[in-house]
Amino acid sequence: MGILFGGKSAEHEVSLQSAKNVIAALDKDKYESVLIGIDKTGRWYLGKNLEDLAVALDGSKAGLGRLLEIIEEKKIEVVFPILHGPYGEDGTIQGLLKLANIPFVGAGVLGSAMGMDKEVAKRLLRDADIPIAKFKVFLKSERKKINYEKIVKEFGLPLFVKPANLGSSVGVNKIKNRQDFVKAVKEAFLFDRKILVEKAVESREIECSVLGNEYPLASLPGEVIPARGFYDYEAKYLDKRTVLQIPAKLPKKIIRKVQKLALKTYKVLCCEGMARVDMFLQKDGEVLINEINTIPGFTNISMYPKLWEISGLCCAELLDKLIKLAFQRFQDEQKLRTSR
Ligand SMILES: Nc1ncnc2c1ncn2[C@@H]1O[C@H](COP(=O)(O)OP(=O)(O)O)[C@@H](O)[C@H]1O
Ligand SMILES: [Mg+2]
Repeated sequence: MGILFGGKSAEHEVSLQSAKNVIAALDKDKYESVLIGIDKTGRWYLGKNLEDLAVALDGSKAGLGRLLEIIEEKKIEVVFPILHGPYGEDGTIQGLLKLANIPFVGAGVLGSAMGMDKEVAKRLLRDADIPIAKFKVFLKSERKKINYEKIVKEFGLPLFVKPANLGSSVGVNKIKNRQDFVKAVKEAFLFDRKILVEKAVESREIECSVLGNEYPLASLPGEVIPARGFYDYEAKYLDKRTVLQIPAKLPKKIIRKVQKLALKTYKVLCCEGMARVDMFLQKDGEVLINEINTIPGFTNISMYPKLWEISGLCCAELLDKLIKLAFQRFQDEQKLRTSR
């Protein structure tokens, strides 16, 4: 099995942590892991261990073609892309693996691309009558048209400013005044050519893990309680005071609502294999969808595997299921007719 990790993304470091955990949890009797690292410039490496990312197999050949060669040489039967963010979670790698005719874990090209782009995902959810926070979208070319007063009049304060395609809260800011807004817009545009400005939702943050292809299952939900402010990068990976309440303390009725909404979101966004659906639970019991993560974190503090664990599926079993789902989708696709 090929493990793809690292990646040309601001979430590179998170991916290394996720990959480490996946490799450790895999049933060694069943799977032999071949580590394929991608550095921050997008070059490919074959590594013996994770720290080995710097050891190039053949510097001059470390381009894209190298991946396909490795797959053939090592007789890799399935690939697990543990890449977060652009160039990994956004359909690009998925397209490559699809063309290479190799089964892979997680959403396909369309689901990955739609889940990554927060604007596209929100539009589809809205179309399916799934509640979301109010948002506006701006391209870099429309920068001059961004009117702070107009947005505040419509959405109130505070606001959230974020890049359209990223994760791990990189480039995400909560702002309460014009000066911070200008700074936040500038920062978000460093990471993407498209940004979102959202109405801040006052709520609890609930996450639900989903697993499956045509017949997905939802885990028990969990809750994220950041020590201060919002669930930013610090709170996610550095601040030990952030509490992950697993499972979330919720009435049965809300749990069912959350699970139902997670499954609906998963289907609307064409997900396969796995995804973590993140939501906002408001005081009045209303649940809004914040976003979907088609390659959720697998770090040792990550919610996705932890939620399955308390739902009765340990990490090795979860990985087993994900690999089976990858083969299943591949076989289903192979059965399709390619001529009349
Ligand atoms: N509209 C919003 N209302 C309230 N909190 C938000 C909103 N948007 C984002 N946040 C906060 O910022 C965090 C990161 O934003 P999110 O859209 O999930 O980006 P990422 O893909 O980087 O995780 C969320 O977990 C939440 O704490
Ligand atoms: Mg998030």
